[in-house]
Amino acid sequence: MTGSGLILGIESSCDETAAAVVGEGRRILSNLVASQIPLHAPFRGVVPELAARAHEAAVVPLVREALAQAGCRLEDLEGIAVTRKPGLIGALLVGIAAAKALALARGLPLVGVDHLEAHIHSVGMGEAPVPFPLLAAVVSGGHTGLYRVDGPLQTRLLGCTVDDAAGEAFDKAAGLLGLPYPGGPQIEKAARAGKPTVAFPVAKIKGRPLHFSFSGLKTAILHHCRRNGWNALEGKPPPPEEVANLAASFQDAVARALVETALRGAATFRPAGAALCGGVALNRHLREAFRAAFGKAGIPFFHAPDALCGDNAAMVAGLGFHLLRERGPDGLDLDAQPRA
Ligand code: KG4
Ligand code: ZN
Repeated sequence: MTGSGLILGIESSCDETAAAVVGEGRRILSNLVASQIPLHAPFRGVVPELAARAHEAAVVPLVREALAQAGCRLEDLEGIAVTRKPGLIGALLVGIAAAKALALARGLPLVGVDHLEAHIHSVGMGEAPVPFPLLAAVVSGGHTGLYRVDGPLQTRLLGCTVDDAAGEAFDKAAGLLGLPYPGGPQIEKAARAGKPTVAFPVAKIKGRPLHFSFSGLKTAILHHCRRNGWNALEGKPPPPEEVANLAASFQDAVARALVETALRGAATFRPAGAALCGGVALNRHLREAFRAAFGKAGIPFFHAPDALCGDNAAMVAGLGFHLLRERGPDGLDLDAQPRA
């Protein structure tokens, strides 16, 4: 099927409501994100029921604005793409209901998109398309996984976290250091003034060399703070220079864990490129650690553009274009799935 190549994307799997219009899988005409961070910050994590209600309020105005900014009408679209998994079920259902209503009302093809595959697709939506086969690490607040990617629609999971996601570990570590939520950007900022003075260990999972574990790292920081009599929850955070050193040590340990595992993944096939995506891919120290390690291995390094690292709908519309053209639309019975 051919058409205008314009896809409206809708994303509501977690704590960002997003709508975007993308041409031919990578030309971004509009990309809007309504963040719920202030709503969830007092709880230091996403509250599912609050998230679903906030999506409900945001989704229609956001879709209208995304179409207006792209200068297009619903009838100009080739189809509508929506995140269908994985994510918070109530949150996913809001985006899916909106997408179905628009598709039904205008007779437009509808396609459901895997959020993690969309993150991977975002890497090729930057300045240059990515080469295949690609080794891709999706590193976000909800997920941490390593993939072999042989084409836009050929993605295979090699390994994933057995406990916390890397972003979740950043958020929890920040809490222990008395830094605000979300913790990733705060840790990166604090780390600039410090040095990795504590060699936190990188977890290895027996018999599963391509999996990750980050929960031990959080416990290691907790014990380190307790030994020194610091407790941010009781208003006794570490002194600022210690916060900076611990942030740098933690960030370095996460980067080492991701790089070492990704290099083991690359050794299982010969990737033409290595890629980082997801919210944690904004971290400059992590990007530089990947660039250095893969540069040494002679494998070009790519990362998602800054605007597409966190959750967004442009990546959903981008991958949705390929799904619609190559696999065809889904029916109006498209369902939401909480799990990957
Ligand atoms: O991809 P994302 O927006 O949402 C999920 O799908 O989870 O990722 C959010 C996560 C949060 O845990 C946040 O702390 C982390 O990404 N993050 C960072 C940075 N910016 C955001 N982690 C480390 N360094 C950063 N600069
Ligand atoms: Zn995400």
